[in-house]
Amino acid sequence: MIGGRPQLTDPFEIGGVRIANRVLLAPLAGIGNWFVRLQAKRHGAGLAVSEMVSSFALHYRNERTLRDLLRIHPDEHPVSLQLFGHDPEVMRSGAATAAAAGADLIDINMGCPVPKVRKTGAGAQLLRDPELALALARAAADGSGLPVTVKLRSGVEAGDTSGFDLAIRLAEEAGVAALAFHPRAATKGHKGQPDYALTRRLAERVEVPVIVSGGLADAEAARRAYEESGAAAVMIARGSLGNPWVFEELTGRRRVPPPRPEVVAELLWVIDRAEEHLGAERAGRYLRKFYPWYTARLEAPPELVDELQRSADLPRARELVASLGRPLVAA
Ligand SMILES: Cc1cc2nc3c(=O)[nH]c(=O)nc-3n(C[C@H](O)[C@H](O)[C@H](O)COP(=O)(O)O)c2cc1C
Repeated sequence: MIGGRPQLTDPFEIGGVRIANRVLLAPLAGIGNWFVRLQAKRHGAGLAVSEMVSSFALHYRNERTLRDLLRIHPDEHPVSLQLFGHDPEVMRSGAATAAAAGADLIDINMGCPVPKVRKTGAGAQLLRDPELALALARAAADGSGLPVTVKLRSGVEAGDTSGFDLAIRLAEEAGVAALAFHPRAATKGHKGQPDYALTRRLAERVEVPVIVSGGLADAEAARRAYEESGAAAVMIARGSLGNPWVFEELTGRRRVPPPRPEVVAELLWVIDRAEEHLGAERAGRYLRKFYPWYTARLEAPPELVDELQRSADLPRARELVASLGRPLVAA
């Protein structure tokens, strides 16, 4: 701690769960599975939050959800599983299932702006129904016996601060253990400058840790947001895609970008874990989303990027990726 303000490398607690530092991996739908979280942890993240999981899918024991989305690696702990939904009873049951799967914390999504989610009454739509939002938080705590956190937006539309008001009520009336605050209106999606001054007002107002999300594209932006917002921690989202090294930078373990062989080795690790997770066939397709983040960093030739996108064949993908680690031979 320097001058009363903790450093990003200092530990903190969420509902009694010790978090080793203040640099967290944000929930990322379709991405934040066990191995992406494990990767963030390996590179220094204090906590990784899962991609959002439907409380209904857990309640109705959807086989694929239970198998793929509740999978937790033993080296990930502490880990937070994020649930979404709009029915307190279903949330209670879903949270119990998440706890039984080994979650240390439950997070509830009250920020998702996607119409498919909002039209069910979940995600950012909960800002319009604070009583239901409070009931969901209480039910998740009840069902899981774990500390519950909520991730939410500042409002639905520009200028609206219903998320700010709800955040205070969640802390004071529903006993949530921390708030992850994304200070952009839901209708803005992921665009525009986040309101870190509003985040500071929230951090000063509530007793529980406020974690800032939004606009943290790199280590520099994350440090600035940490200072400007007065938050207890930062949550890296898009800035972590293909860049697990951002966690090393922010926790003081790295000063220079990783050399090519390290980037290649990291992508090969990702390919191996995806195969372990989904089997060769599904992994081959799933990985198409991951390749561009790494190939951009490696300045891979367009033909190679193209072939990776077209082929779902893992041995060929490994061959192509490995070739990027070899020194370029002048023609
Ligand atoms: C591809 C993608 C998936 C996301 N999925 C979730 C999610 O499942 N749950 C959630 O609360 N936020 C989700 N978010 C929002 C992020 O966690 C984060 O709040 C947002 O990207 C703002 O941070 P950034 O500007 O630093 O990227 C997602 C964002 C992206 C880009």
